[in-house]
This record gives sequence, structure tokens and C-alpha cells, in this order.
Amino acid sequence: MISFVNLTAQREKYRFELEKAEREVLDSGCYIGGPQVQALEKELSEYLGGNTHTITCASGTDALTIALMTMELHPGDEVIVPDFTFIAPAECVALLGGFPQFADIDRKTLQIDPKSVKELIGPRTKGIIAVNLFGQCAPFKELREIATEHKLWIIEDSAQAFGARTNQMACTFGDIAITSFYPSKPLGCYGDGGALFTANEDYAQKIRMIANHGSAGRYQHEIAGMNSRLDALQAAVLRVKLRHLDEELVVRRQNAAMYDAFFAEYNRTAAAGEKIVPQKIETGCKCTYAQYTVLAENREGFIQKLKAAEIPYCIHYPSALRNQPCFRLYRKEPLGGIIWTEEDHPDPNSVKVSRKTISLPVCAFTDVAEIIEKLKANL
Ligand SMILES: Cc1ncc(COP(=O)(O)O)c(C=O)c1O
Repeated sequence: MISFVNLTAQREKYRFELEKAEREVLDSGCYIGGPQVQALEKELSEYLGGNTHTITCASGTDALTIALMTMELHPGDEVIVPDFTFIAPAECVALLGGFPQFADIDRKTLQIDPKSVKELIGPRTKGIIAVNLFGQCAPFKELREIATEHKLWIIEDSAQAFGARTNQMACTFGDIAITSFYPSKPLGCYGDGGALFTANEDYAQKIRMIANHGSAGRYQHEIAGMNSRLDALQAAVLRVKLRHLDEELVVRRQNAAMYDAFFAEYNRTAAAGEKIVPQKIETGCKCTYAQYTVLAENREGFIQKLKAAEIPYCIHYPSALRNQPCFRLYRKEPLGGIIWTEEDHPDPNSVKVSRKTISLPVCAFTDVAEIIEKLKANL
């Protein structure tokens, strides 16, 4: 059976290095913080070019929450988030009492649309959370221009994109950037884990404090913070995997290129209602392909064929965030609060895309040639 993310094959390949690193931690008696975590933070900063402070924490979701606390988000503040992404960015804003405002996306790249961001800016807007969706960098040049003009901060959610780059590395665009080390991420550990990155010394100090019970020194708590730590075992695993990240990303990109070529050929003869179009990756972006995502005009029909061919798939994401029950109250209706209808306002791209999107296995340990043979036989 093909797995969606083949973590067992990855472990098999690095078994010797991983077991040695894991044993060292277990024998060390130091399980939280300590030299492994410090070494990982240093190595992550070096990977990003050396100008970035790295602070690890317990998950990507915690990292977003800590970033928002560092920016001093107050109840009632508004933060613009993409409408089509994992729930965490909007959820963290809401949990801190803020109001997420849902920006539409580009229907081809699936990234946040700067035009839509601009339209949402109001007197209570404090910042933008830009997500590097599926491993492609968000349009930071335009977003930064908007942020500068309106005095907003940018939090870069790079949970899916550690290792991506355009003219600069992902995780260096935002005032604060975050990533997730959830096991299936391009750089994943064996549990939950996350990190924050910033070039700003003051933010870095504050992040460390918030992640450690708001504490500057032992039993001295400057602010109410949280307990969000990466443990030493996860750090040791991540240090091994970081050494192999670039070679894995090369294979992920090769896998994606094989799919691209297959779907280009398929679309030459497919009927309009059967076309399957990959997410557009902007020229110059080196994507991590956390997901290889396509838009299938007939998603249900495609799913039946994938099932017949025993090819695993995931739907990232089946709903735009604005339509999630938990966010109904946050929706800002245009036209002065008048509830809009489909006739007045057609669905935004985020909603349209959520009806077509579907992701295929792409990790460095997936045999994409085998999957393409199965697709050829079934499509
Ligand atoms: C875009 C995005 N942001 C944040 C997160 C949250 O990361 P974690 O699962 O480590 O809390 C995820 C996880 O899937 C994600 O995809």
C-alpha cells in the first residue's frame, strides 16, 4: 500500500544516525532544553543565513500564538489571514480575542491575494499573517509594501515551507516567522514541535520569555506567558533530518515535476469538465511541496479513480475558513452589514478552490513513477 507520507522509509534510511542521536539524549539525563535544543536553534539560524534568531517551541500553533502575543495583540484587534489554509492562523487570533479577517486567494497560486488584503484594512487592523501555502512563498514583496504603508506587522506562517526560497529564504520575510515540525511536514520530528524566527533582537527576547512562562529569570515572571518547549529528543531527531533536508527537497521537486508533466499531457486531451490543474508555482520560487496539490474540475470522479488505483490522497482544505462554523461571527459582510447572496457576490476564489482541491503523495520516499503508471491506467 502506498502511504501518503512515507515516514517509515525515511526512518529506515537514516536509522543509524537517528538511533545514535536518540540514544545520546536518553542516556544524557537532559530531556527538556539543554545542548541538543541549543544546537538545533543555532543550526536552524545558520540554515537561514545567520541573521535570524531561532526560538524553538512545542508546536506551530504555539509559535503563532507566541508571535501574536509578542506583537501585543489586544482583544478587538483585527488581523488579516488567508481564507484558504489550515485553521491555526485564524484560530490563534480568535483565541487571543482578536478578529481574523479572511482575505481571498489567487485562484492559480492559491496564495493570499494582496488586493484582497488591501480591501480589508481598517482602523483596527494590526497585522497580516501570510501563509506559505503548500510550501510556496506568499507574495511578500506586495505584502510588505502594503504593511509599510499601513504600519502593519507581518507574521510569516511557514509551517509548510521551511527550506523554501525565492529571492530570500522562507522564514526570513516576516517580522516574525514560524514553522511547524509536525511529523509529516518537510522538516518533521517524532511528535509536536515548532519554532519562531526573527531578525529583531527585542522580539527574540520577548518570544523566549513568553514561551517560558513569561520569565526573564528563574521564578521572576514579567508577563503572563505559556509553557511551550521543544524536548531534547525531538531536537536530536530534527538535527539529523536537517542534515538531509536539502537532498529531500530536491527529490520532492523532481516528484512534483513528474506530476506536472503527466497532468500537462493529460489535460491536452481531457474534456473541460475533467481537467486537473496543478497549483501554479511562481517562477523563481523553490517550493518545498509540503503538498502536491491540484484543482480537479470533477473532484469526485478523480477520487473514485484514485480509490480504484489505490493511490492515497488528502483534501487540503475542504472548506474556506470563513465558512467554518467557529468563524461565522467574525465574517465582515460587505455593503455595510447587508447579508450578501451568491447573486450579489459570487463565491470568492477560496470557496471555489475548496471544492476542487486535492493533494497527492509527493515526499522524497514516494515512488511517484509508480503512481503515475497507476494514474495512466485509471484516468
Ligand atoms: C499553515 C499552517 N499553520 C500552522 C500549522 C500548525 O502547526 P502545528 O500542527 O505544529 O501546531 C499548520 C499545521 O498543519 C499549518 O499547516
